[in-house]
Amino acid sequence: MKTYKTVAGLRRNLAKEMAKGKTIGFVPTMGALHQGHMSLIKLAVQENDITVCSVFVNPTQFNEKEDLDKYPRTLERDAEMLKENGCHYLFAPGPKAVYPDGAEKSVDLDISALTQHMEGPNRPGHFEGVVQVVHRLLEIVEPDQLYMGQKDFQQFSIIAHMLKTLQMKTKLRVCPIIREADGLAMSSRNVRLKPSIRKRSTILYEALTYIKDNIHKKSPKTLEKKGLEMVSIADFKPEYLKIVDGYTLEPIKDSKDHSYIVACTAVWAGEVRLIDNMILVG
Ligand code: PAF
Repeated sequence: MKTYKTVAGLRRNLAKEMAKGKTIGFVPTMGALHQGHMSLIKLAVQENDITVCSVFVNPTQFNEKEDLDKYPRTLERDAEMLKENGCHYLFAPGPKAVYPDGAEKSVDLDISALTQHMEGPNRPGHFEGVVQVVHRLLEIVEPDQLYMGQKDFQQFSIIAHMLKTLQMKTKLRVCPIIREADGLAMSSRNVRLKPSIRKRSTILYEALTYIKDNIHKKSPKTLEKKGLEMVSIADFKPEYLKIVDGYTLEPIKDSKDHSYIVACTAVWAGEVRLIDNMILVG
C-alpha cells in the first residue's frame, strides 16, 4: 500500500491506473478505523481493481471545536489495518492539501429538504461540511464507486442526492451497519465511552429492535415515545429518535403508507454522542 499526503502524488499514480483502464473504489474516512470501515474496504477491494481510502479529519463538518479536538487520530494503526485488508492507496492529507484556497467555498447544492430533521437541526452546518469535503475528495480521486456506511443514514442519503443532482459519474454503494457482539454499532467514538456507560450502550440497539418488532403493531408516534423512554436511562440523554421515510427523511404518520422506513436515533452516552439506525421496512 502506498501513502500520499499530497494531491499531486496521489493523482499522478491514479492517472497511471486509470490510463490502464483500472476501476477505482473509494472509501472516505476520518480515521480511527474499525471493522465497520473494514467492511467498506473489503467490498471496495472485491468490486474494483484499485481501492483508495482517505483519512482526513475534516474541520468544516464539526460544529463543536471540542469534538474536533477530541476526535481520535490513529494514522499508523489505520495504515496497518488498511494494508492488511488489501487497500492499495491511503490518502492522508492535511487541510491545506484538501482546501488549497481556504475552506470557505461551498458546493452549490440545496440540501435543505434532507436536513430538516434528525442530525440537521442538532448539528448546524455539519452536512454542508460533509458535502464540501466529499465533493472535493471525489474531484481528487475520481472513483468509479464510492463506499459509505448505513450507520450515517442521513449522510449517505445527502451524498446520494449530491451525486444525482450534480450528475456525477461516481456510483454510491452503501454497506450495512457492523455491530459489536452485544449490538452496539461500531463507531470511532466508542473508544471514548467509560466502561460503565459502554456496557449500557446496547440500549440504542434494543430500542431500535423493539421498534422494528412493533412497526406494524403500534403507531410511529407511540413507538417513538417508547423508544425515547427506553434510551433515557441514567447518564444517557437522547437528542432525537425518529421514524422516517427512508427516501425523503420526513417523519411518518402511518407505516402502511410507506415502502421504505427507517428509525434513527442520536443519544448522548455520558460525554459521547452515539448515533444508530435500523431499517424497519424496505
Ligand atoms: O463519515 C465520515 O467519516 C465522514 O463524514 C466523511 C464521509 C469521511 C467525510 O468527512
